[in-house]
Amino acid sequence: MAKVLSELHLLGRESDLSSERGVSCTGELPEPSDPTLVERAATAREKLGKRTLILGHHYQRDEVIEFADITGDSFKLARAAADRGDSEFIVFCGVHFMAESADILTSPKQQVVLPDLAAGCSMADMAASNQVRDAWEIFEKLGISRKTIPITYMNSSAAIKAFTGENGGSICTSSNAERAMRWALENGEKIFFLPDQHLGRNTAVLRLGLNLTDCVVWNPWKNNGGLTDDEIRGAKIILWRGHCSVHGRFTLENVKEVRARVPSVQILVHPECQYEVVSAADVVGSTESIIKTIEAAPQGSSWAIGTELNLVKRLARDNPGKKITFLDRTICYCSTMNRIDLPHLVWALESLVRGKVINQIKVPEKTAKEARVALERMLALP
Ligand code: 13P
Ligand code: SF4
Repeated sequence: MAKVLSELHLLGRESDLSSERGVSCTGELPEPSDPTLVERAATAREKLGKRTLILGHHYQRDEVIEFADITGDSFKLARAAADRGDSEFIVFCGVHFMAESADILTSPKQQVVLPDLAAGCSMADMAASNQVRDAWEIFEKLGISRKTIPITYMNSSAAIKAFTGENGGSICTSSNAERAMRWALENGEKIFFLPDQHLGRNTAVLRLGLNLTDCVVWNPWKNNGGLTDDEIRGAKIILWRGHCSVHGRFTLENVKEVRARVPSVQILVHPECQYEVVSAADVVGSTESIIKTIEAAPQGSSWAIGTELNLVKRLARDNPGKKITFLDRTICYCSTMNRIDLPHLVWALESLVRGKVINQIKVPEKTAKEARVALERMLALP
């Protein structure tokens, strides 16, 4: 459901979209209108004390972020979970692949909870394990697998991370994709980049200086990825045909429209945006770097930001001396991030208080072992 904002400037505006929510626990979930929810969350949180760590991704709703012990991007939160060996329960307010990464990096004694199991990621879902392994088999038949290094974005399932670990590859995030791809090209001749074609293309062309023609797109729904054998053999970068349904929406028209309307505006976008958008932007950065850029920006400066709306609204609220606008005129929350709301958080916390662990995310040990190899390769990147 998208609703047109009458104006771009988001300061002080409240949306009525927060009622759109997946309910995976009918019967036990508190009513969203329950006026005692904040108090219930605070009481349960206090009772759980140090046994529980609440992690909140930057794209979460304010009502959830308020209860987070640590906020961050997916990488920072995974590390935070790993560093807090004393926390018995990690309540992960984010999406499924992030909770999986936290489970992979924490000790077997720690349990990771995702307050709503329906909080997935459409990009991660675009690469199924069998599809990726089928593609790799074709690379083997063509004799290119030995010189191809898989580089897999954090936004992927544990199974794809395990495939990456098994085949000599590394995980990357939006902040270290360049380093990961340079490392891959030092250790091989080609990169198989999964699952975000935009991050892969933007990094290859705008950071590594490769040509657009060095990249081909592997479409998992087509025979041979929709490519000829020669195209596969000739490509330096084979990009999986996946994208973010939020960042992929921003267009070059959005950039032109904002530039024409807002004087001296600087365009700041996430590298999951399309190549044309990233090329036309003034600053490109990961979630953490978008936050740092705005925090460091001079008072009175004007920014149009192309990333998730909860974060843009929060940046606007926390930086009242700077003019923060949203790059698109239509509301663009990540609907799966938004599934974690106060009723789900209260349900998860109160269940823990009663000794019941709901919605635990547990990656099978075999998968976790291989995925850990790929994650550790990323941590060891120069
Ligand atoms: P980060 O890795 O920056 O947290 O990004 C997560 C995400 O979902 C971006 O769309
Ligand atoms: Fe996935 Fe995009 Fe949502 Fe991030 S913003 S969780 S990549 S759908």
